[in-house]
Amino acid sequence: RTGSYEEKYRPQFHYSPAKNWMNDPNGLVYYEGEYHLFYQYTVNSTSPDFPRMHWGHAVSKDLIHWEELPPAISPCEDGAIFSGSAVADINNTSGFFHEEGSGLVAIYTNEGNQAQPNKPQVQSISYSRDRGRTWIRFEGNPVLFPASNTADFRDPKVFWHDESSMWIMALAARDRIEFYTSEDLKAWSFASEFGSTVPFVHRGVFECPDIFQVPVDNNPNNKKWVLVLSVGDLNGENMSDPQPPAGGSGMMYFIGHFDGKTFIPDKTIESIHDIQWVDFGSDFYAAVTWNGIPKEDGRVIWIGWMNNWRYATKLPSLEWRGNMSLPREVQLKTCLEGFHLIQLPLKELSKLRNPITSLTDLIIKPGDNLLSEVTALKAEIIAEFEIGTALEFGFKLRKSSIQKTIIGYDVENESLFFDRTNAGSADFHPDFAAKHTVPLKPEHKRIQVTIYVDGSNIELFGNEGTAVITDLVFPDPESQGLELYAVGGSVKVISLQISDMTGIWER
Ligand code: FRU
Repeated sequence: RTGSYEEKYRPQFHYSPAKNWMNDPNGLVYYEGEYHLFYQYTVNSTSPDFPRMHWGHAVSKDLIHWEELPPAISPCEDGAIFSGSAVADINNTSGFFHEEGSGLVAIYTNEGNQAQPNKPQVQSISYSRDRGRTWIRFEGNPVLFPASNTADFRDPKVFWHDESSMWIMALAARDRIEFYTSEDLKAWSFASEFGSTVPFVHRGVFECPDIFQVPVDNNPNNKKWVLVLSVGDLNGENMSDPQPPAGGSGMMYFIGHFDGKTFIPDKTIESIHDIQWVDFGSDFYAAVTWNGIPKEDGRVIWIGWMNNWRYATKLPSLEWRGNMSLPREVQLKTCLEGFHLIQLPLKELSKLRNPITSLTDLIIKPGDNLLSEVTALKAEIIAEFEIGTALEFGFKLRKSSIQKTIIGYDVENESLFFDRTNAGSADFHPDFAAKHTVPLKPEHKRIQVTIYVDGSNIELFGNEGTAVITDLVFPDPESQGLELYAVGGSVKVISLQISDMTGIWER
């Protein structure tokens, strides 16, 4: 990495560029031994400069250690480079790679610049013959125009669909998702749309769609398709539309079948309550999955922007603004209501683990303060509890006499919560100081949590990724304390491991 990375609030094992503004992950693709992470990037400011949006770039061999490279794709006469995806064109379907045989193709939105305010959003492509280091704009750009002059037509997610031997594009077209197909990544044909006939799904703006196939209950012979939509912040307008659980920007998903042209959800959506949400915190947005992960690996892995448009431009960090979540594995699990998307921290994180405390079979009562000697600043906490007489139990993190972030389980309401009402700096936006909750039923009286704490980032996974809350917090550097607590009775800690995530971190 470049830069000092010592600044106040700077995360250490979450990716953030050395300087300036970033938002959505883009062009996630694995190619010739490298995972590419492109992202919306403003090169000379910590505020988003939309007319000058670039694709920033980082690469990794293991999804944990990232190397920042120079920005990859710069704005051009067709406009700014907005979100999109990248594919490895291993059979040279595009014809861009005569001698090399294969290469990378990026498919992104060109946003008309301010000089031409009525220019619609269009889709363009660029290709790289040197593993993503330099990019050549296709001379036939743009490759896809909107049928009508809509303002919102963006964020193409392209992937190879084996069964139909076609490239598929999912595109956000205001209040619907459109699917297109192509043989060569240059000529695109409309296939179908999703959204206009699904009641209760309408929102002002959809963004960054993704569609992928995931095994159910880890069974590779039983796979389902998942369509994921990021939904833009309406800031209180259209309140009859479904709001993400923590407000502002959020992500919904649908499980169903995709035949290469049309997505059919399994369930009919009869009310707002049928909408399934990816994350119940407020800071996980625009997540998309990696293309090209080798079949032997077989995992579906995504990463999201740890932020929310409601306050993203106001975050109190100085040299840089915005960072990625940890990469997560996505799975589907059978549940009472059908299927449920679960998200798991990658097993590769174990590389960073440096165990500092572990406990087993211990009863916690109100007033006990067992971890008062432990600090958890860049840490992983894995705990399993057996519900006893306590009404509430959990952890207070980044604690001082005046600040704390509470991650707890509310026994009566069967919900896991994340309380950042008193976590640190929050005056930059009135909605920031809040408590977020997610329903979570105990399994055989047990509640399991995995927590990552890192600078301004906290990610919480309940019961092996069944319930997820991703939230930013801005505690003072001196707020370093940790407490394991119980209220109204006792709780049994079956096991607890706390690790410093500094393991073998190469600078
Ligand atoms: C989502 C988004 C995308 C757009 C990009 C612009 O966060 O609004 O729809 O392409 O950000 O930076």
